[in-house]
Amino acid sequence: MELLKQKIRDEGIVLNEQVLKVDTFLNHQIDAELMLAIGQVFSRLFAENGVTKVLTIESSGIAPGVMTAMQMGVPLLFARKRKSLTLQEGLYTEKIYSFTKREESEVSVSKKFLAPDDRILIIDDFLANGEAALGMARIVQQAGAQVSGIGIVIEKSFQPGRQKLLELGYRVESLARVATLANNQVTFVEDNVD
Ligand code: G4P
Ligand code: NA
Ligand code: NA
Repeated sequence: MELLKQKIRDEGIVLNEQVLKVDTFLNHQIDAELMLAIGQVFSRLFAENGVTKVLTIESSGIAPGVMTAMQMGVPLLFARKRKSLTLQEGLYTEKIYSFTKREESEVSVSKKFLAPDDRILIIDDFLANGEAALGMARIVQQAGAQVSGIGIVIEKSFQPGRQKLLELGYRVESLARVATLANNQVTFVEDNVD
């Protein structure tokens, strides 16, 4: 998605070879018009999949997720992160290990919002090691529902997430694929999802 790639070139900050900071439009301040455009692209890419609901994780997945859901005319559901789990009743819960943050967290979704006949489009802001997307997919499985696809705003293609998801048979569509952050510079994989 050229508009997104240009925004990353203009405003992204390469913190180190692993981490790209995009807090001017995605992770802190949000560019609502860009999010709308992102939602339109995801909606088009997954239009033929019979999606009944969009699923993401709080907090940064919500903006692209809600725009996608609006375009598709379905609800957005976001998995909640919770520190301690005393009340598990009525929830689907999965552990997610973050290699970036070196910590494990638990995410959960109320059972009342997922049904076996749901076809779920998973959306997230970043794809790194794939743990968040895999955790969401496991939640969908717990509900006996189907994953229709996985839509990612920014994929770090030098990390293993995409490959892991493809090996499990999921369809992955990433709007910007970062090949490398070497030399303080963002270099994209040359393919165009638009
Ligand atoms: P994974 O799910 O693909 O395995 O990713 P990882 O554990 O490495 O990511 C942990 C958190 O860091 C996630 O946000 C993810 O979106 C974010 N993240 C990963 N790589 C980058 C990066 O290069 N740049 C930025 N800006 N974020 C990155 P989170 O903890 O869920 O936070 P939130 O922002 O959604 O609240
Ligand atoms: Na994030
Ligand atoms: Na995220």
